[in-house]
Amino acid sequence: MPHEIPPEQRDSYVFQLHEQLLDMEQRLIPMGLHVFGEANQSHAADALRMISAFDRPEIGVRSLPGLIAEGLGLPEYPVLLRESSNSEDRLDQRLRVEGLVREAVDIFLAGGLAAGPAVEFLARTANVGEPESNSVFALLGQVADGLSRNQEVDSLMRALRGEYIEPGPGADIVQNPEILPTGRNTHAVNPYVIPSVAAFRKSEAIVAALLQRSLGERGRYPETIGMVLWGMDNIKTQGEGVAQALLLMGVEPRRDTLNRVTDVDVIPLERLARPRIDLVLTVSGIFRDLFGTSVEVLDKAIRRVAALDEPDNLNFIRKHVYGDQLRGSAFEDAATRVFSNAPGTYGANVNFMVTDGQWESAEEIGDLFITRKCFAFGRGLDGNRSRELMERALSRVEVTYQNIDSAEVGVTDVDHYFEYLGGMTQAVEARSGCRPDVYLSDSLSTEPRIRSLSEVVRLETRTKTLNPKWYEGMLNHGFSGVAEIEHHVTNTFGWSATAGAVDEWIYDEIAGRYILDAAMLQRLRSMNPYAARSLTARLIEAQGRGFWAPDAGVMDQLHDALGTLEDQIESAGTGAER
Ligand code: BEZ
Ligand code: MG
Repeated sequence: MPHEIPPEQRDSYVFQLHEQLLDMEQRLIPMGLHVFGEANQSHAADALRMISAFDRPEIGVRSLPGLIAEGLGLPEYPVLLRESSNSEDRLDQRLRVEGLVREAVDIFLAGGLAAGPAVEFLARTANVGEPESNSVFALLGQVADGLSRNQEVDSLMRALRGEYIEPGPGADIVQNPEILPTGRNTHAVNPYVIPSVAAFRKSEAIVAALLQRSLGERGRYPETIGMVLWGMDNIKTQGEGVAQALLLMGVEPRRDTLNRVTDVDVIPLERLARPRIDLVLTVSGIFRDLFGTSVEVLDKAIRRVAALDEPDNLNFIRKHVYGDQLRGSAFEDAATRVFSNAPGTYGANVNFMVTDGQWESAEEIGDLFITRKCFAFGRGLDGNRSRELMERALSRVEVTYQNIDSAEVGVTDVDHYFEYLGGMTQAVEARSGCRPDVYLSDSLSTEPRIRSLSEVVRLETRTKTLNPKWYEGMLNHGFSGVAEIEHHVTNTFGWSATAGAVDEWIYDEIAGRYILDAAMLQRLRSMNPYAARSLTARLIEAQGRGFWAPDAGVMDQLHDALGTLEDQIESAGTGAER
């Protein structure tokens, strides 16, 4: 961002800054680790506020911010959200609505989950009708009750005795509050209904936002998007990822008489009002195993669209497939777009290569990604090794993308995001000669959000890795908490290695917060010297690989800290306590 802001841009700059601060403040941040068997209510108020922000027509519950905005005679809440980044009035209105939501939820919790006082408060301050409020608080009451109970140990004991365990859905708590109480036998999804009607409807806004963002940045539509599809995510969202892929191509699911999605209908260009986007789909091994039908549907869609008689500038799939045919490819080869692991294998292993330091040049990372993921599926293919077809398809990719659907697991929480999205991005860069734009959606927010990878890394860093609320929560867990902090740093490093998406200030701040601060280093060392050593070594490696250029003084301090940690670990003897 510019340091010198021209006066005429100052207002909009301040609005954007404010918007970013709100974004951070409103994120649901995990406070510490889940402890098996223990109910965790430490962030009940945050969870209830997030849950209350969504319309849930299936159970007759409306969004609380929506009801308040309506009661106050303001524009709809999504309008407030959208316009708050460039209008002071809208920002004030949005903050007023959100403040009332916060107060109402606090009153509800303080009153021991009695709806009365919160309902009365909303009627008095925001003219919200009692029946509407009552439905919201009935839902929030169930959630709060579910959060306060934990039957995990009891269920585990019953399972070990071979007794019946009540089933319950597996999802994100905001997506589906019915997941509570935990400690039930998780069931997933009927793969034939993927994508659900709701997932498809929701994806329209996300796909529009993705294309709009890319259009804004390159001045034209991207011709090819490389997408990652995971199994768990499509379970949790009833197939949002699949829905987004279909929409990008400009097709919609066709449901048979048993409501199963086994085919697609082409959306006419007049209705689509934009080009059909070409895709390269990298699906996880879990997705391949769970969603065989969706793999077939996606492949069918590609070939259907490739065969349409439409102009090149409105159908990039046809343009590319036909181009390859002119150069001698068979249609079936030219239209191969769904890739996964060889049957029976899982993972791109890019995470192991990066975290173990087993790479010299970044191209090796992309090569490994392709080696692991170049097996073609669809039209009855059972994982044919198709390295050349995948390389050719990746060489055309301009944007890589993954849908994020959970408040709990983000791009620095686990190593799998950089394993997949990072691995694909690196593979594209080496083959197209240009780093693709990398985007992530936030399908959890009430307004569809598309962010660049660098923006998401910054957001995750500020709200988790460098946020005292987050790391103090982790440090309460001692050994495991320090390990979790180290994982975040290593996963951040993974985004430097695969996609060059980490600002240098992030490493400066991490070093300053955890290693250069003597008191903090002492805390880490006393709880988990192994993780403290890995974290220090990772920062040194980041400098060595050119991801970060700190002052020599900082490097000296890091090397000193590493030496001290190594001495400590050695003098502790065998390390058996680990
Ligand atoms: C999946 O659900 O497909 C998945 C889970 C973890 C890592 C990679 C993929
Ligand atoms: Mg794992």
